[in-house]
Formats: sequence, structure tokens, C-alpha cells
Amino acid sequence: MQRLRGILSHMGHGAVLDLKTCQQARELQDIYTMFTISTSKLRQIQIYFLQEMLAGLRDTDGSSIQQLCSFVKKEKTDNISGTYFALDLGGTSFRVWKLIIDKGKILEKFETRVDIPEEHMTGTADGLFGFIAAKCKEVASSTEGDLGFTFSFPIQQHSVNHGTLIKWVKGFTTSGVEGKDPAILLKEAFNKQGVKLDVVALCNDTVGTLVAEYFNDNAASIGVILGTGSNACYWEKLSNIPKYMAKHPEEDPKQAMCINMEWADFDRDTPHRCLPLTQFDKMVDFYSAHPGNHLFEKMMSGKYIGEISRLIFDYLSSKRILPELPGIRKSENFESKDLSYFLSDNTDKLENIENFILERFRSHTSLFQRQTMKEICDLVSTRAARLAAAGIATIVSKISPEEDTTVSVDGSVYEYVPGFRKKLNDSIAELFVGMPSPNIKVVLTKGGSGVGAGLIAALVTAKN
Ligand code: BGC
Repeated sequence: MQRLRGILSHMGHGAVLDLKTCQQARELQDIYTMFTISTSKLRQIQIYFLQEMLAGLRDTDGSSIQQLCSFVKKEKTDNISGTYFALDLGGTSFRVWKLIIDKGKILEKFETRVDIPEEHMTGTADGLFGFIAAKCKEVASSTEGDLGFTFSFPIQQHSVNHGTLIKWVKGFTTSGVEGKDPAILLKEAFNKQGVKLDVVALCNDTVGTLVAEYFNDNAASIGVILGTGSNACYWEKLSNIPKYMAKHPEEDPKQAMCINMEWADFDRDTPHRCLPLTQFDKMVDFYSAHPGNHLFEKMMSGKYIGEISRLIFDYLSSKRILPELPGIRKSENFESKDLSYFLSDNTDKLENIENFILERFRSHTSLFQRQTMKEICDLVSTRAARLAAAGIATIVSKISPEEDTTVSVDGSVYEYVPGFRKKLNDSIAELFVGMPSPNIKVVLTKGGSGVGAGLIAALVTAKN
């Protein structure tokens, strides 16, 4: 924090400082300290995280990281050919793809993106799935075909194409879906509208992201989503999944299956054991659609990092460090795309930020105030990157790959927040300092979450 550094050096020179300036500096330093996670804290988080990973492999309900079985196995991909469809539902929009695959390579892909009207995110199952089926009809017309359905919510999977929604998250509250099978709801909606697609695979977006990259690069072993929500998956040997082997003793224990971790809920139980939750995180949680859920995600994903920054701005405005910002009290009035905009302003006087504040909040700011706001965005996104890095580094340590490993990432935070990728990579490297580690490559697999579902549909069909 530049202002603080300035004040402390004045103090060192015996300058007389007024109490108000000192109090303001203290407020800023408090926020800086609250949001800065040391290496040692990250290592503590890693140990708790690993413990939860292991517990979840034994018993889904016995851990805050549920380690859900996806039923997607690690198979050869070079014999896969055909035309497949994919549908990706997970945020405020959904996407439909038609994929033409030849010997494990995607030759062509056609993508359609559709915004989901608010009324369907909070309405009824019939409304939501009917809306989606109508759009799929436009893409697939009367073609018969197999479809992979990415459903980016916690699903307790029963097979590769069936499962039940455990709970809605990320602002969805549509009635009649919790406890139901989204693949069946989709198929029923298809039938009603005469769409001739079969739902042969149901998967989480992390699983799609991993499989999409795995078709390109066999070293891909971890899939991560850093977007509206956040989560990860990885290939785990069946011998390490006691809860699965107990029900499927006939299967080859050396075979690997993709585990959908559902890391968003990590350390959910109170009292929280290691998450460094601040007063701002607690407020975000309190006012969210699902309080008490997904606290790890709420500290780092796109739905929340703008909101955390907004709450800090509001606080600093109440302390008169920032000017009055009419409208700042309105929830979600500063989104993660605005945070990215602030971070990308490299003009000397931060003129883009100045104009944004004038337009959105009708306030004039000093250069120092704009610098402070940009620094807040940087603090919040750095913390997000470091938490995600702790998760990824722990998975790498757990699977201890002997060779190079690729982490496949999809999602708007990773893709668009300036500096995020570097911070994530640097923090992963920091956690391996002094330890033997494989060469970890983190790659952006754009659209992988949905495309991967189409590839899983192809894998499933090839097997049958
Ligand atoms: C959901 C996960 C999903 C993640 C990323 C979380 O809120 O629980 O299932 O993978 O968001 O979309």
C-alpha cells in the first residue's frame, strides 16, 4: 500500500502526522493484512485440504470435499470418431455444441450461446428445461444423435449419464430440480419438443474441462474451473477410492476415474478450521442466495470477487478514505468484469477508472483514491489466485505424477482477470520451493467444460 509506506517513512524522519491520516493508513493496512495470505497459511490450508480429499474418497458425507465419482474412466481416445452434441449449463448462459470428431481429434465445432432469463434461474424445472430444449432444437433440428450434458452443479452421480442434483448453487433456485436427475429432466423436455438427442453422458464442468484437454495431451491430469463458480477434478486410481471399490469390487483397481471434487465447499463447517475469512467474506455469504455454502468458492470465484471489492469500497467510503459513492450499497453493483477493467487501467492518472466512477457512482476521485481502489482489486484477485493455487498444488502432491503434468483450466476469472494467470503460476511454484516437483503446465482450455461433455459422449458410445 503506497500511502502506508509513505506515512511510515515520514514517521521514520520524525515528521508530525495528524491522527486522522494515521487512522486512515491503519484502516488500509488492516485490509491489506486481512487479504494477504502468507506461504505458511497456504501450507496450512493445503494440509487441511488433503485431509478432506482423503476423507471424501472414503465417504462423500464425511468431508467438506465430497470427491464425487464421475464414472468417466481414463481411456484411449485415438479410436473415437463421429458427430456428437454437447450442452453446457452452469452460469447465467448456456452453450450448445455440435462436434465432428475424427480419430480423437475435433475436426469442426459449432457453438451457440444463449443467455438464461432470470425467470428461469429462479422459476420452475419445466420452464428452465423447456427453454433449453427449444434452443437445442434450433441447433440439432431433427437430427438424431448422442449428447453429453455438462451440468455445473453438485450432482451425486449414479452412472455416467444419471445423477441427482444435491443442491443448487451460484444463484439458481429453480424449483423441482434438487433431488432430481437433470439428465431425465432434459430428456423429458427433449421428448416434449421432438428433439431426437439421447443424453448419454452427464458430467460436471471440471470433468469436461479435463477430458477436453486430455484428448489433446495425455499428461492432462487435473481440470479446474475458475469462473462464475469454482471447482476441480482429477484422475484418481480406483484403488484409492474405497467408497467406489466397495460397490464395484469387480473393477480393475489400477484403472483411473475422474473425481469431481466439489472443492467449493471446502472447510464449510463452523467453526471454520483454516479459511482466512474476513468480515467482507462473511457479508458476501450472509447476503448470498445460499448462506453457509461454498465459502471457499465465495473467496475466489467470478460471482463474488467483484462483490467483495464493492463491500471494501463501501467500507472505505464510510471511513472517508474514499469519497461518497452513491450506488455502492447496491449489491453486485461492481462485478468481476469491472474489477478486470480496473486492473487493466495502466494510464498514468488512472483515467479509465476515473471515468468509470464518474459514470457508475457519480463521484470525483483523487488519484490516490483511484490507486487505492485498483489496489483493492489487486488484493482480492491475488488472494483468489493464491487460494486456487493451494488447491491445485495439493492435488498435484496427492497424485504425485512422476512425469510432467498438465492442469486444464476454463473460466472467466482465469481467462480475463489481468495478472491472474501469473499469480496462480507463481503461487503454485512458491508452494513447491525446496520440494521435488513435476513440471506443472497450466493451460487455458477455452470452452472445454462443454466440449468435453461431447467427447465423453463419444467415449461412452464407443464403449457400448
Ligand atoms: C459447483 C460445481 C461447479 C463449479 C464451477 C460450483 O459452484 O458446485 O459443481 O463445478 O461451481 O462451475
